[in-house]
Amino acid sequence: MIKANYPIPVFENLPTPFYYYDLDVLRNTIEEMKMQARKAAFVVHYALKANVNPSILSIIKESGLGADCVSGGEILAALAAGIPTDKIVFAGVGKADWEINLGLDHDICCFNVESEQELEVINELATAKNKIANIALRINPNVDANTHHHITTGLNENKFGINMSDIEHIINKLPSLENLNMTGIHFHIGSQITDMSPFQDLCIRINEIQKYFINKQIHPTHINVGGGLGINYEHPNHIPIPDFEAYFNVFRKHLSLYPNQTLHFEPGRSIVGQCGSLITKVLYVKRGSAKNFLIVDAGFTDLIRPAFYGAFHHIENLSSDLDMEKYDVAGPICESSDVFAKDFSMNKSKRGDIIAIRSAGAYGEIMASQYNLRKLPNIYTSEDLK
Ligand code: LLP
Repeated sequence: MIKANYPIPVFENLPTPFYYYDLDVLRNTIEEMKMQARKAAFVVHYALKANVNPSILSIIKESGLGADCVSGGEILAALAAGIPTDKIVFAGVGKADWEINLGLDHDICCFNVESEQELEVINELATAKNKIANIALRINPNVDANTHHHITTGLNENKFGINMSDIEHIINKLPSLENLNMTGIHFHIGSQITDMSPFQDLCIRINEIQKYFINKQIHPTHINVGGGLGINYEHPNHIPIPDFEAYFNVFRKHLSLYPNQTLHFEPGRSIVGQCGSLITKVLYVKRGSAKNFLIVDAGFTDLIRPAFYGAFHHIENLSSDLDMEKYDVAGPICESSDVFAKDFSMNKSKRGDIIAIRSAGAYGEIMASQYNLRKLPNIYTSEDLK
């Protein structure tokens, strides 16, 4: 069995739990993504919500990607990382006034707007500053992403975006909102999508929507198709880089762009997911009558995905190459949902062994909490440990 090639003797001397970011994996992923995007001149804004660790953001900035932000805090993080303001977009269903003002003050490239009332508020705040705000309408495409119901967003029943049935009214209203400049349309159907057919459905839907806009003499200069490309949680060692080629090809093949239109993407997980692992230590091996429990020192406060979404993460015992045994891998938090995996086959484990919970670079560190008054996890990168 192939295991992650991590500096185990170094790990043994570090206080666990901690996130470990392999920056070579990150750089290789970005390189591949850029190479594939370049073939069709696609524009990529990294979705900061997946991970805002400064070491990661600095590589994102160096690689020339833009930033997709969903809060004032994320805009500040993008600015602190040195990402140019004209590469920052601001999305989110509940933008507060101070966050809109922050975006206006920095002349960010676009607000992705999710409701009629939000349009009015951005117009009002822009007018007060004597500025013109570029906006994209986030349209709910009513496309099923076939993913976990907590992370599907493109259905009419979700809170996100403007339904197509309300678009006519909004378009008629736009000319009266004089401090807004509509430059684009925006979509996002969900996250952790590994089957390409929902993206194809999205393209077909966008083609129809585009015809509607063009008939109304409206020519958006950019189409933003959001994020959502999934990663391989089962085989992080074999498939560390998602299939960006297949993903971008769907859009090259099925989405009809008009002259001078650019296509924008907002990937989060597919860029940072595989570069991160949560490293934890075995505290106790509890041998029950029906099951063996591995109690580790990380809990759902460090990585909430298994407890929250029932998400699968591959787990490796980096210290052992003994025969395989099945364990429920559980954390120390006083809730029965604090379990990382059930009946999971791992090398026979003992107190003190180092365990890696893989594919934790996206929605890991950033979703950590201090419930039970636990400490936030430490962070180390491959470069810190050189
Ligand atoms: N754009 C928009 C409008 C989004 O809502 C999202 C993610 C993205 C881009 C980036 O999507 P990605 O490429 O990362 O799939 N915490 C959950 C995932 C929530 C995703 C929310 N929106 C998880 O741990 O699975």
